[in-house]
Amino acid sequence: MKFYIETYGCQMNVADSELVITILSTAGHTLVSDINEAELIMFNTCSVRAHAEDRVLGRISNERHRKKANPSLMIGVLGCMAQRIGKRLIDDHLGIDFAIGVDQYDQLPQILSSGIYKEHIKLDFDSEQVYPDLMPSHQSKTCGFVTIMRGCNNFCTYCIVPHVRGRERSRPWHDVYADVLQAGKQGLKDITLLGQNVNSYNNAEIDFSDLLRKINEIDEIERIRFITSHPKDLSYKLIDTMAECSKICEHIHLPLQSGNDRVLNEMNRGYTSAHYMSLITRLISMIPNIAITTDLIAGFPSETDDEFRDTLSLMQDIQFDYSFCFKYSPREGTTAASFPHQIAEEIRLARLQEMIDPQREITLSKFRSNIGKEVEVYVEDISKKDANMVSGKTRDYKIAVLPGNSSDIGTLKTAIVREATAGTLIC
Ligand code: 5AD
Ligand code: SF4
Repeated sequence: MKFYIETYGCQMNVADSELVITILSTAGHTLVSDINEAELIMFNTCSVRAHAEDRVLGRISNERHRKKANPSLMIGVLGCMAQRIGKRLIDDHLGIDFAIGVDQYDQLPQILSSGIYKEHIKLDFDSEQVYPDLMPSHQSKTCGFVTIMRGCNNFCTYCIVPHVRGRERSRPWHDVYADVLQAGKQGLKDITLLGQNVNSYNNAEIDFSDLLRKINEIDEIERIRFITSHPKDLSYKLIDTMAECSKICEHIHLPLQSGNDRVLNEMNRGYTSAHYMSLITRLISMIPNIAITTDLIAGFPSETDDEFRDTLSLMQDIQFDYSFCFKYSPREGTTAASFPHQIAEEIRLARLQEMIDPQREITLSKFRSNIGKEVEVYVEDISKKDANMVSGKTRDYKIAVLPGNSSDIGTLKTAIVREATAGTLIC
């Protein structure tokens, strides 16, 4: 069967799609990149905010018409939305043939060969599932994602993830190591280790710092990244490891969510703004040129205007290289969705805009501060805007363009930054 897969949401989903590609290819099916050729269309979905779900529902209804011309075409939904509302999606007659949850991708070949798809809504959690011995089919030739753990135990009150991805479990370190080594042998030099909370990785006495040190020894790999770190679990041991291991890139994504301690407590985040600041101070003292990015939520239930201003003022104090700013989105089944004092949509939107505007200024000045400096760029592609330029990322996770051609793809180049926008360093 020719299958096509469209992926939404975070890098965990990208990595899961690469796992599904391995599972189906091994079973004799063929990945196609053109949806028109597909006999099976799959959507790997995200539930983190209502907007993410609405986009996927829109996409599914756009592709349904294909079933009229081709009645044997199958449409499947994978991932967090399948897990959350898979049964509802099928009952709603959206033309979906099957829904399969995040712990059961290894059953896809049987579901496809059984022919009775609707009786195969596979949504049970399997708290042991780590997909052992399954190497992801990396779709990039330069940068690879390797999952080191699945699920989450933190239950931040706004978040649907623990409800749709189940409890936290770490993959055996030797499986992770083998995946990274294989990616390196395939020529991928930039590897991102993935988990909802990588700082709590633990397998057979190997913690996350130990794992990083092992991966740092792999000759084929030049750059190591990881997402996502949780401020309550980020240890000084890890910061020391980042400073000492030459391949670990000078970037950390450390979601703050709010700059106000009462709101952080309501969110069940497990740290204060002072603790977060102490981590930032330590990170900068140990790794002076580190880029720090974050996630922020505007309009969490009961957040007052003054409390929101605490977030704005911490943003100014810290000067994040980039912030992913979100308007709070109530998710059915999470604790915060039933909190009293939900904030009106227009206030959430206004607060969101009040975050985005100053962050854009900060990001621009961070990018501009690189002008005149030398950066190392791992070339990933020809620039979309100029065929005589190539693009890639710096070690601190900024997109850069520089003169070059297709023979530079997959190589590390150093160049001097001449100009900068809020999204690109121009060398
Ligand atoms: N509403 C808004 N943003 C959310 N996030 C997670 N859940 C919600 C929600 N219900 C954001 C958090 C998290 C990022 C991945 O998505 O900032 O870090
Ligand atoms: Fe969601 Fe919190 Fe887990 Fe992150 S740590 S996935 S925000 S519950």
